[in-house]
Amino acid sequence: MLITGNKITLRAVENADLVHFHQWANDPDIQYMLGGWHFPTNLNDQEKWFQTLNCNSLNQRFTVTNNDGVIIGMANLVNINFKDGNAELGLIVDKRFQGLGYGKEIVLSLVKYAFNELRLNRIETTVIAYNQPSLSLFANCGWTKEGELRDWYYRKGNYHNKVVLSILHKEYATYLQDGKIYS
Ligand SMILES: CC(C)(COP(=O)(O)OP(=O)(O)OC[C@H]1O[C@@H](n2cnc3c(N)ncnc32)[C@H](O)[C@@H]1OP(=O)(O)O)[C@@H](O)C(=O)NCCC(=O)NCCS
Repeated sequence: MLITGNKITLRAVENADLVHFHQWANDPDIQYMLGGWHFPTNLNDQEKWFQTLNCNSLNQRFTVTNNDGVIIGMANLVNINFKDGNAELGLIVDKRFQGLGYGKEIVLSLVKYAFNELRLNRIETTVIAYNQPSLSLFANCGWTKEGELRDWYYRKGNYHNKVVLSILHKEYATYLQDGKIYS
């Protein structure tokens, strides 16, 4: 099933999309903003990763296109825990398409899918403390900052805090009612 927003669609990752994933995986500016451990990745590595994707997975990964069908980024809902009703959300918007509101569209669409289709109760994300675009994005989508884990990341010779943010289903429902975000 496709997940749609006003100006984006999230769909399954196709083999042909891997050139974009490969490019993002090797882009130092993008990777500087992300958690995880990064090293040069070749297309073969990307294809091996693609083989591990499974439509029944508790780690769902999506290619994001705009209304012109152009690939503008990727998103994921991972570590889905149906027992406790929670999951983690992540995304990348290609540098050429940043600052145009696509990030907000992606987060709102995935949150809606997680709460209204998967019946989850809590979605969380973690952000490196200097990633201001990401902090603004999640604040714009009504997420709450829960706290910071100290010196969690080591980047460019310095330690940085990890910021934990989340949104609960009841908050989403209230924001919808108040018209702060759209359905
Ligand atoms: C974070 C990210 C997903 C935001 O996507 P986006 O499509 O640019 O998001 P939006 O257009 O909805 O803008 C979100 C906020 O980021 C700000 N922003 C976007 N590009 C920016 C830039 N290059 N520099 C500073 N701020 C920027 C926007 O102004 C907006 O904040 P505001 O409402 O306070 O003005 C994107 O910057 C990205 O992919 N970054 C690299 C990977 C990453 O950080 N992923 C998230 C990890 S948790």
